[in-house]
Amino acid sequence: MASHFRLTPEQLRSHRWFGPDDLRSFGHRSRAKQMGFATEDFAGKPVIGILNTWSDLNTCHTHFKQRAEEAKRGVWQAGGFPVELPVMTLSEMFMKPTSMFYRNLVAMEVEETLRCYPLDGAVLMGGCDKTTPALLMGAITMDLPCIYLPAGAMVKGSWRGNTLGSGSDVWKYWDERRAGRLDCEAWGELEDGIARSPGTCMTMGTAATLMSVAEAMGLALPGASDIPAVQAAHSRMATQCGRRIVDMVWEDLKPSRILTKHSFENAIIADMALGGSTNAIVHILAMARRAGIDLVLEDFDRLSRQTPLIANLRPSGQFLMEDFHDAGGLRALLESIRDLLHCDALTVTGKTLGENIAGAEIYTPAVILPRDKPLAPEGGTFVLRGNLCPNGAVIKPAAADPRLLTHRGEALVFSTYAELKANIDREDLDVMPDTVLVLQNAGPLGGPGMPEWGMLPIPKKLLKQGIRDMVRLSDARMSGTSYGTCVLHIAPESAAGGPLALVRTGDEIELNVPARTLTLHVSDEELAKRRAAWTPPASRYERGYGRLLMDQITQADEGCDFRFLAGTQPTPEPEIF
Ligand code: FES
Repeated sequence: MASHFRLTPEQLRSHRWFGPDDLRSFGHRSRAKQMGFATEDFAGKPVIGILNTWSDLNTCHTHFKQRAEEAKRGVWQAGGFPVELPVMTLSEMFMKPTSMFYRNLVAMEVEETLRCYPLDGAVLMGGCDKTTPALLMGAITMDLPCIYLPAGAMVKGSWRGNTLGSGSDVWKYWDERRAGRLDCEAWGELEDGIARSPGTCMTMGTAATLMSVAEAMGLALPGASDIPAVQAAHSRMATQCGRRIVDMVWEDLKPSRILTKHSFENAIIADMALGGSTNAIVHILAMARRAGIDLVLEDFDRLSRQTPLIANLRPSGQFLMEDFHDAGGLRALLESIRDLLHCDALTVTGKTLGENIAGAEIYTPAVILPRDKPLAPEGGTFVLRGNLCPNGAVIKPAAADPRLLTHRGEALVFSTYAELKANIDREDLDVMPDTVLVLQNAGPLGGPGMPEWGMLPIPKKLLKQGIRDMVRLSDARMSGTSYGTCVLHIAPESAAGGPLALVRTGDEIELNVPARTLTLHVSDEELAKRRAAWTPPASRYERGYGRLLMDQITQADEGCDFRFLAGTQPTPEPEIF
């Protein structure tokens, strides 16, 4: 499968900047020399952009300054010319209203950074949640050879002899604190112990899911996605990315040659076998649309039904990313489900996925479970349909209380997250354990930016009674580290006039996960009356990026990309005069 085609130095894209004997190229060459480089450092060599999403406020990427240098080392070794370019980072913890709000902005920045500079290829450095799809969406559209360098997960957390997992254990212990069972001192110790090194969240949350998805899709080196951020192997992998991207440029190995419907299906199968974050669905759909590949929600459900969940990782299972890596990692997991995959799919190595995973072994069967003893016989994420979600909704049943997967109850509706926050802990809240909690106006437009509010908090009065899960519905997303019987991504969203906007407290709602249905038991006549009385919420933004988002964002089932960014229409290369 390896290509024998090789570009000549004159065919390099950067040659247009550095090659000609004219005034403009004189300027480009003289300015490269201004940095202290000699002609032989850059002339006729692939110019590799190291797109670095480092920032002091992205705590998951604190090792990226060093990794950028290590990637550059690889580029030099292979005969390329590395240039480091900062791009906006999407810090899951610090960005408001939500990092998802800015995913498309970064995708635009990546695309235009790759386009406007004399680059032949790129190493894309990301990992913290939305950085991965943002980098890949921009790179897919620009279609230069690129290789994704995953940040890797942080080391495991620890508290009083207990292993702590990012996010999942925060929610768990926060509920204990709200129930009055955890004092200030213990809470402070948890704060000290939950995030102990550089790297992404170390549960199978959104970051780990998307790093794995990128590798399964063929855009990262084999094994790259599960190496813990602080291990020496991670440095070696960064250098290997630098070496490999230079050859990819000569081979003209671009995303358009790698990405097919099969590579996206491989990504979904990996996601399902991992019990990955529900967020992955939105991002995979967006990436597929950038690649011009026809992928719909039903593809996820179809592949979910045939893929066993075999990664015993939190929040669905027991272990953490470090354990997964030591157990053999993604290569071993994929090798164990080889028959489900499209093994002929091409990857950044120039080899097929099947070749990349061949011979990978599972060293710890408690972490990567045998096919005949899966965590769940079907994959991690199901797609629901019904009159409450005509364009779909998703649920992660493995992270839910099985008892609630078939449930009928009365709705308790909160029209905004602010209303929910203000009322959820009231002692006089009219709520029972079988109530269905409903949150409206938390979708792509309503949030705005589809924040991770989908794991609605359990009312305090029920927490005190020992209730730890309830059926919860929203048009929001949920953190990949979250858990519970949470129906998410309801489409169309309530702010766009979807049926979710019409639900009222006291309505009967039926969730039937085995049948993949979500039903609002209100007559069509009554719903028509409510619709006639409904008015859309006012836009929060009159100008700026927020206005662009409100005008352009698509719904969850379409990937939440901007309408004018999706698709494969050609964009002209910049003129060089
Ligand atoms: Fe960065 Fe979770 S906060 S990956």
